Amino acid sequence: MSPDTVGAASLALAATLLVTLRAHHPATVAHALRVARLVAGIAPHLPGEPYHGRIAEVYAAAALHDIGKLLVPVAILAAPRALSPDEWTCVTYHPSHSRAILARGGASPLVRAAAWGHHERWDGTGYPRRLAGMEIPAIARLVSVVDAFDAMSEDRPYRAGLTPAAALREIAQGAGSQFDPELVACVLAQGLLTDDIAA
Ligand SMILES: [Fe+2]
Repeated sequence: MSPDTVGAASLALAATLLVTLRAHHPATVAHALRVARLVAGIAPHLPGEPYHGRIAEVYAAAALHDIGKLLVPVAILAAPRALSPDEWTCVTYHPSHSRAILARGGASPLVRAAAWGHHERWDGTGYPRRLAGMEIPAIARLVSVVDAFDAMSEDRPYRAGLTPAAALREIAQGAGSQFDPELVACVLAQGLLTDDIAA
């Protein structure tokens, strides 16, 4: 299949699945679309343009990164408080749920890699597979940074969101532990992680 065909199929799959996710938990879809817009804006500026000609697929991959939350009870997703340990365990299953849903939907390897790998950490303490460093697929390392930036910036019922500047400081502090340090350096040096990039 050509990159255009894969991109179109990926966007169609995202449209279908996100309609279902919106009925389950609208805030997750709003988050996913913000992340997708930022990721698609950053991708062309990465060294070597690894996603040249594949931005539609990249957008869809980022938009679908949390699709496994379809299988996390809404009472947990919308809980107006910090989660209990059992509830948190339930949330940590969502990348594996995503993997199953996206495999059934015939998603491309890139789309599946973003969803299954976006909660891995550079230092190997993430989930679900405890991958480390370059073992983590590149698209998942990229979605991880943007996902964290958006999540930290967002107001929650039990805490206020960080300002963009404060969220960027947190991203910088996580370089080499949570995040790919070269990727963070590249994104911060070029000022790519702002709402303006894809506006
Ligand atoms: Fe997630």
